[in-house]
Amino acid sequence: MLNVALLGAGRIAGVHATAISTNPGSRLVAVSDINADAAAKLAAQYGAEARTTDAILADASIDAVLIATSTDTHSDLIERATAAGKAVLCEKPVDLSLARAQSCQTAVASTGKPVMIGFNRRFDPNFAALKAALDKGEIGKAELLSITSFDPAPPPVAYIKVSGGLFRDMMIHDFDMANFIMGASPVTMSAVGTSIVDPAIGAAGDVDTAVVTLTYADGRIAVIKNSRRAVYGYDQRVELLGSEGLLQAQNMLENTVVKSTTAGVTGAKPTYFFLERYMPAYAAEWAAFVVAVTGGTVLPVTLADGIAALAMAEAATLSARSGTPVSLASVLT
Ligand SMILES: NC(=O)c1ccc[n+]([C@@H]2O[C@H](COP(=O)([O-])OP(=O)(O)OC[C@H]3O[C@@H](n4cnc5c(N)ncnc54)[C@H](O)[C@@H]3O)[C@@H](O)[C@H]2O)c1
Repeated sequence: MLNVALLGAGRIAGVHATAISTNPGSRLVAVSDINADAAAKLAAQYGAEARTTDAILADASIDAVLIATSTDTHSDLIERATAAGKAVLCEKPVDLSLARAQSCQTAVASTGKPVMIGFNRRFDPNFAALKAALDKGEIGKAELLSITSFDPAPPPVAYIKVSGGLFRDMMIHDFDMANFIMGASPVTMSAVGTSIVDPAIGAAGDVDTAVVTLTYADGRIAVIKNSRRAVYGYDQRVELLGSEGLLQAQNMLENTVVKSTTAGVTGAKPTYFFLERYMPAYAAEWAAFVVAVTGGTVLPVTLADGIAALAMAEAATLSARSGTPVSLASVLT
């Protein structure tokens, strides 16, 4: 049984609290948050204790921590938790700064403790099945990957200002999905972005709509499309063209009813947002962490994966600003 503490008691922490509590191999012992009321409320909901982060890290009976705090705290908390001997699952992204994430990786290596990054979409049953089909050779060799990732509505501009921007906060999931499916990092990235959904997002220095093209050393290509607004719901699709066929992972719908009349053929909208679409993925992500940590096996997503995706976010940000392609190697040196 893995004794676990949750750092952060916000939006995504609630999802993780459910996953930790419902997994037969883990127990939620404590919750911390700089907002003591939020910690107390979430802890009470799951029969755990509200404690300070210091008290959690000093408690030798706690085996693992799940970091679900604001992004700018991740590297510091990963370093402190691993130095205190805890296994860690930390939400994406590792940090707002690539250099800081890299120094965190160096510090973690000296502790030998396992750190997994929360790229939950790898555990989505649809995307996992697409990847499994590719790995079994069912469409031959991958040639052209296309990832569509549209949110239903933009977050408040106050969130945008501290998020690190669309490429670090939102498209980072798609960068990791590209790495997961293609099994390699790209060589070059070309990005364009615009603030066509909300000019206030542009005034805050960010974009709300973007396309990034990734080119690989062996000639493969990937295209990622993001928007902060899709009025019909959360649009999350992956399409992969291979030498012997095509794989497509479609949206999850609110229901499967299709109405056919003389007026046409209609169906339900996609599920609203990430809490609806990815709930099974968050549970599967946590289950994979528990199995790896208790069994001492390799984690399915590593800190290095988090840094690889963050480097791509950095390259895309630079490319969108400069209007020219950026090599991934140039941001990693
Ligand atoms: N994987 C996903 O699908 C997904 C979805 C949403 C958010 N996230 C990530 O999860 C993180 C949290 O996002 P959220 O939407 O839950 O934000 P949130 O603002 O709702 O929650 C963050 C919480 O962290 C607390 N906090 C901040 N600094 C702290 C510290 N030093 N110690 C303890 N608590 C602290 C805040 O008080 C707040 O309650 C972000 O990094 C975000 O990128 C991931």
